[in-house]
Amino acid sequence: MQVSLLILTFNKPPIVSLQGQPVLLYTQQHNSLLAALEFKRVRIFSECRNGFCGACKTKLISGQVKYKFEPIATLAADECLPCCCQPVTDINLDLSADGVDVVTNKQTA
Ligand code: FES
Repeated sequence: MQVSLLILTFNKPPIVSLQGQPVLLYTQQHNSLLAALEFKRVRIFSECRNGFCGACKTKLISGQVKYKFEPIATLAADECLPCCCQPVTDINLDLSADGVDVVTNKQTA
C-alpha cells in the first residue's frame, strides 16, 4: 500500500520591521514598499517615486527585496529604494518607528 503525503505550503507575507520593531505584513495589496510604509504613517522622504532620484534610499538592515524594474539611482549593497521595490523575505529597515502603530506584546496578550 502506497501512502501519499500532501504537503501544503503557504507563502507567508513578509514582515516589515523598523529598527527591529515589526510594523506591517507586506501583501500584494501594496503597490510598493513605500506605499505600505506611508499607509502605516512611517516618516520617509520621497520625490520621484520611480527609482530615479534616490530620495527614498533606505538602509536595509536585514532581508531581501526585489525591484519591479531596474532603478536608475545607485545603491550600496545594504540599501534599497522603497518606492520601487517589494520585500521577498522578512525585512528590517533602518527607519524610526516613532509614531507608527507597532505590534506589541500587549496587543497579543
Ligand atoms: S523617491 Fe526617487 S528613487 Fe525613490
